[in-house]
Amino acid sequence: MKFDFLVIGSGAAGLRAAVELASHGSVAIVTKSSVGEGSSEHAQGGVAVVLSDEDDIVLHYEDTIRAGDGLCDRDAVMTLVDEGPKYIKELIKWGAQFDMHGDHLDFTREAAHSVNRIIHAHGDATGREIVRTLKSYAKKLENITYLQNYFALDLIVSDGEVFGIKAIDEENKKIVNIFSKGVILATGGAGKLFKRTTNPRVATGDGLSIAFRAGAVLKDLEFYQFHPTALHLPDAPAFLLSESMRGEGGVLRNDEMVRFCYNYHDKGELAPRDVVSRAIFFEMEKTGAEYVYLDMTHLESVFVKNRFPKIYSTLKEFGIDITKDLIPVSPAAHYYMGGIETDVWGRTKIKGLYACGECACTGVHGANRLASNSLLESVVFGGRAAKSAIIDLIDKEICEINYDNYIYKECITNNQIKELQDVMWKYVSIVRDERGLSKALEYINSKLDDFNVDFVCRNCMEYYNMLQLSKMMILAAMTRKGSRGAHYRRDFPERINENWHIVFENVKFDPIIR
Ligand code: FAD
Ligand code: SIN
Repeated sequence: MKFDFLVIGSGAAGLRAAVELASHGSVAIVTKSSVGEGSSEHAQGGVAVVLSDEDDIVLHYEDTIRAGDGLCDRDAVMTLVDEGPKYIKELIKWGAQFDMHGDHLDFTREAAHSVNRIIHAHGDATGREIVRTLKSYAKKLENITYLQNYFALDLIVSDGEVFGIKAIDEENKKIVNIFSKGVILATGGAGKLFKRTTNPRVATGDGLSIAFRAGAVLKDLEFYQFHPTALHLPDAPAFLLSESMRGEGGVLRNDEMVRFCYNYHDKGELAPRDVVSRAIFFEMEKTGAEYVYLDMTHLESVFVKNRFPKIYSTLKEFGIDITKDLIPVSPAAHYYMGGIETDVWGRTKIKGLYACGECACTGVHGANRLASNSLLESVVFGGRAAKSAIIDLIDKEICEINYDNYIYKECITNNQIKELQDVMWKYVSIVRDERGLSKALEYINSKLDDFNVDFVCRNCMEYYNMLQLSKMMILAAMTRKGSRGAHYRRDFPERINENWHIVFENVKFDPIIR
């Protein structure tokens, strides 16, 4: 197959990029599940964007830099907050229906925002509305082909330039080469590295490992964000309880019913996400409990039901009425700040390769992401990556270069994946130390040594991607001997003040300090 542009992933970032590319050539959206299935579809709280009269892009800029604990790239942050309103107005023009208060958008508050700036849709189904809008807009455009149930395996690269991808066509169980002028990776996050995560099944970090194997630079891999409040019930998924529930007045209590967040930060429940997650971790450690409680019972019940309809109905299925019952919650893996290094136009080190959305590291989030900045990031940088690809690749021909092939063979890796997730959760999550990180590294190395990459299927390549990425996350976490943002070392609790970053490049597992 041949297309001018390949977009890998069909979340908010991939769809936004594809829409931009469609008037400049043929586009294929390659996606390992059905179109739209990804974190974007499940996003609840909303989009942080300066559209209210009481707000200002300088305030949004400062809040983002503060949450990022000083490690954000300032140009990238300015690009995000400055261009955000334009991209969201465009979505509204394309049919996105955000919730209104009278004839104005309704703005809510989330942690570490200095003003109410989060817009939302259908109460707590913001991501679904954005994906719906982009999908229906894309449908009207000619030129877009959807390759669903195609799993991207690797990039086809020669002399530092991309010529397409190798993928598994899952329906026909065969490996195909798809050639193109350029490739945009929009493969989302990696929550599935951990036992407890809010992320959907597809979030296995594939794009990062694929880019690494092609020689791209990966950056800030020690910075992984854990959301403070995910449902904690036996045999239930770690379903997200949106931060906007605390923004609307929800409080956290320990198992003695005491509100504890103010003991850790003067903003209480609305302290930055990493602070609240650690507060819950330490509180659980102190009391021996496996969870704390999110309490919404003091709020007006009609308001709670209308404001959080999806959360209300989902928890009802688990026997919890959020207007009357306390909700057992604990932190879960949620968002990867680290990723494929790009400039503010989505360009990577490899010619013809772009990245956007959660798999990219533009530097917008630094050491910790400000709540609700990532849907905005996906549409802004999805659009910008496509714009730069259009300009860069206008004169390039599609070349079908020779390339070694993998051999397809199905295998079962579910138990190994579960074991890896347990190890990562135990040693590499909210609170880390040298001993635990070393144990995790030893485990991963032994699994990587055993891995045979001659025969591949989606299962085993997801597992391989997860192993490679886990190894780099651990090595980065071992290298940063100090605490910063979401990276917390119990053995080095002091904040490291110097502003350096850790990168991996040239297909080597050697952390480089820059
Ligand atoms: P995704 O939407 O995850 O899409 C990734 C795509 O890549 C998927 O289509 C997937 O199938 C595909 N893919 C992956 N690997 C391969 C492969 N090897 N081959 C082919 N296809 C592949 N952020 C906010 O700003 N506000 C919120 O309110 C919010 N709430 C959230 C709630 C939840 C439960 C979660 C999990 C996240 C939330 N986030 C929120 C974060 C935000 O949703 C994500 O960071 C963002 O949507 C990522 O978009 P994306 O397009 O980069 O990735
Ligand atoms: C949430 O609704 O709490 C998620 C918001 C986000 O991840 O930005």
